[in-house]
Amino acid sequence: MKKFSVVIAGGGSTFTPGIVLMLLANRDRFPLRALKFYDNDGARQETIAEACKIILQEQAPDIDFSYTTDPKAAFTDVDFVMAHIRVGKYPMREKDEKIPLRHGVLGQETCGPGGISYGMRSIGGVLELVDYMEKYSPNAWMLNYSNPAAIVAEATRRLRPQAKILNICDMPIGIEGRMAQIVGLKDRKEMRVRYYGLNHFGWWTSIEDLNGNDLMPKLREYVAKHGYVPPSDDVHTEASWNDTFAKAKDVQALDPDTMPNTYLKYYFFPDYVVAHSNPERTRANEVMDHREKHVFSSCRAIIEAGKSSAGELEIDEHASYIVDLATAIAFNTQERMLLIVPNNGAIHNFDSDAMVEIPCLVGKNGPEPLTVGDIPHFQKGLMGQQVAVEKLVVDAWEERSYTKLWQAITLSKTVPSASVAKAILDDLIEANKDYWPELH
Ligand code: NAD
Ligand code: G6P
Ligand code: MN
Repeated sequence: MKKFSVVIAGGGSTFTPGIVLMLLANRDRFPLRALKFYDNDGARQETIAEACKIILQEQAPDIDFSYTTDPKAAFTDVDFVMAHIRVGKYPMREKDEKIPLRHGVLGQETCGPGGISYGMRSIGGVLELVDYMEKYSPNAWMLNYSNPAAIVAEATRRLRPQAKILNICDMPIGIEGRMAQIVGLKDRKEMRVRYYGLNHFGWWTSIEDLNGNDLMPKLREYVAKHGYVPPSDDVHTEASWNDTFAKAKDVQALDPDTMPNTYLKYYFFPDYVVAHSNPERTRANEVMDHREKHVFSSCRAIIEAGKSSAGELEIDEHASYIVDLATAIAFNTQERMLLIVPNNGAIHNFDSDAMVEIPCLVGKNGPEPLTVGDIPHFQKGLMGQQVAVEKLVVDAWEERSYTKLWQAITLSKTVPSASVAKAILDDLIEANKDYWPELH
């Protein structure tokens, strides 16, 4: 069986150890010959990498492991780039969330003005990774889950149209895992789904078991009462995420024929979200206090003891969709997966040049999208507005245009007026001066 060389871009990410453990657990179907980490923050990456080195020595000393901040060393001789960078790291996420809240608008990593702000930082970072890959390993594929995926995907579609990059999100996978629990199935792969929308902005229209039995009636009844909080909930779910899963009950009521993505709460109930936010402590603070501290202190414990049992790193099992995607390309499995791809007529009554999240068959040449057909006015109207926001952000980045970015923030359904949009924009420009192109 062929063995692969992988570089993880954003080696210092809090998700890297979980993904390494997941890759190790899936070696029988996706064998590795080399694993590299790449990051532009050498010190942050070193802690994660030195701990992973110990794990790899214990479990798979045959895999050639290295880490670097040098793009040439990182991107030479690789088959896959797994990209999860966060340009500006958590301190900038914190600003993305807190600045809009100062103006009474919700603050979220990927939605509303916060997501737009993050997008303006991410575009350049992800394009740089694409260029390194094309320069040093032109046959490689990039599996990108760096956020905000919708804006990043529009930027790569427009600015690197030939690039072998696939943008994917784990939110539908997480929700499908909950749906499977609700209907009493062991695994989300025991369901076959139809879904359409934009990233963090979509709907399931059909959910069946593998015998073709319709699971929607049971889900509808359950979700209308409990949202996506399954009967015996996982104790690991943090309170803020649990609220989001529970709120899906109200989100679903807007269109009882479908099942919604949880992120729609930010567009349908922005006033509720603001009322339930603490402007002094947002999700970025929670992540810095919990996940980041936990992962880095575990890594340091492992390094000090020289053995993995000294830390509490956990396999990110649900991230195995990344291996599903890599094996689909490497072994032409034609697996059916939700990917963020150019619409090209798949949603019949929607812009062909919009990046949409829809089921695709994935093989050695990449994704083949499945046909969705016509969508209703409600979804079409919402998606038209949101796709315009995403396109305006890329326009603004490309043209260095203040006006386009002001239009983008004004058009976001989360923002009440052009004057509020302008006030937020001016604060975001100040906060992002080390990251955004200069606008005029
Ligand atoms: P993190 O800050 O812990 O890790 C990101 C790493 O990227 C940092 O080590 C940072 O130094 C590095 N980095 C930043 N800019 C870079 C650049 N230009 N080149 C190379 N490295 C760079 O963040 P995290 O919370 O672990 O999340 C990582 C990313 O994964 C984020 O973009 C997050 O939104 C995304 N994510 C996406 C999904 C999805 O569904 N698509 C799911 C989870 C996380
Ligand atoms: C989900 C989404 C990601 C997002 C993440 C945020 O997994 O699909 O796109 O980055 O949630 O999680 P966090 O724990 O960092 O708030
Ligand atoms: Mn996502």
